[in-house]
Amino acid sequence: MSKKKILITWPLPPAAMERARATYDVIAHGDDPKITIEEMLETAKSVDAILLTLNEKCPKAVIDQIPENIKCISTFSIGFDHIDLEACKARGIKVGNAPHGVTVATAEIAMLLLLGAARRASEGERMIRTRSWPGWQPLQLVGQRLDNKKLGIYGFGKIGQALAQRARGFDMEIHYYDIYRAKPEVEAKYNAVYHDSLDSLLSVSEFFSINAPSTPETRYFFNKDVIEKLPQGAIVVNTARGDLVNDEDMIAALKSGRLAYAGLDVFAGEPKINEGYYDLPNTFLFPHLGSAAIEARNQMGFEALDNIDAFFAGKDMPFKLA
Ligand code: DGY
Repeated sequence: MSKKKILITWPLPPAAMERARATYDVIAHGDDPKITIEEMLETAKSVDAILLTLNEKCPKAVIDQIPENIKCISTFSIGFDHIDLEACKARGIKVGNAPHGVTVATAEIAMLLLLGAARRASEGERMIRTRSWPGWQPLQLVGQRLDNKKLGIYGFGKIGQALAQRARGFDMEIHYYDIYRAKPEVEAKYNAVYHDSLDSLLSVSEFFSINAPSTPETRYFFNKDVIEKLPQGAIVVNTARGDLVNDEDMIAALKSGRLAYAGLDVFAGEPKINEGYYDLPNTFLFPHLGSAAIEARNQMGFEALDNIDAFFAGKDMPFKLA
């Protein structure tokens, strides 16, 4: 039997590409230049399924142009805010994501941001690289420790919990808010204090970590009013999605000192981030590194392929979204 043909919009780690090629006739787009939506739609005419990434923005207008032969899309990401699921449902296109591979890797990056922000890592790094280190001084780049500080986690899903586990290793006190309260045994595991509202969580969060997905309810929630509810000089980290944050309000609060520091891995409109971030000293900034660990990227590839395998076997996708 001839192999089904799939389009993979970006090269994936070798282990995932190898598995894909063993099962499918793969059309893999190179990463330079970046695949355009027009190219994706054109190539889609000659394949049976698409494995895409969060770079390929698929609002309704794009989904409506997907050729009739495509009934399966799998995304190499946990996030699916780049795909209009309702439009896919209306077209009878099955969609799946890769929800588990990212967990530990993203929690590690959140931990790194918490530490880096608390201990002013980016300023120290800059001092060395700009050859401007005058030598050790008692008051040089003095930050703060994490132990016994209250960490507020907004979004207590897999990544939020994996962060709690790591932060417990640094003796942080865990607080959380989520629309779903965790089971008692989960709260007990992390000694986590549940707050029944975001406002209540904000009021105690000396450190605040954004771990919620981007949805119409959460988009741009982190604005001036929310910042005002945090303790003076709070530290904020975001490893979820950039569009949860109102950048202008965040930047103003970092400039005024209302927020002491921000550690950010994700940005609205990335890679073209708000200009205001570039020169702010009290930021620790990463280019969306959350899942950039080989173990995570391999697993993401396998999960995305599991969806496609199931689709062609006439089964439900294991990580079905639509
Ligand atoms: C995801 O999987 O949605 C992550 O943002 C990728 O790092």
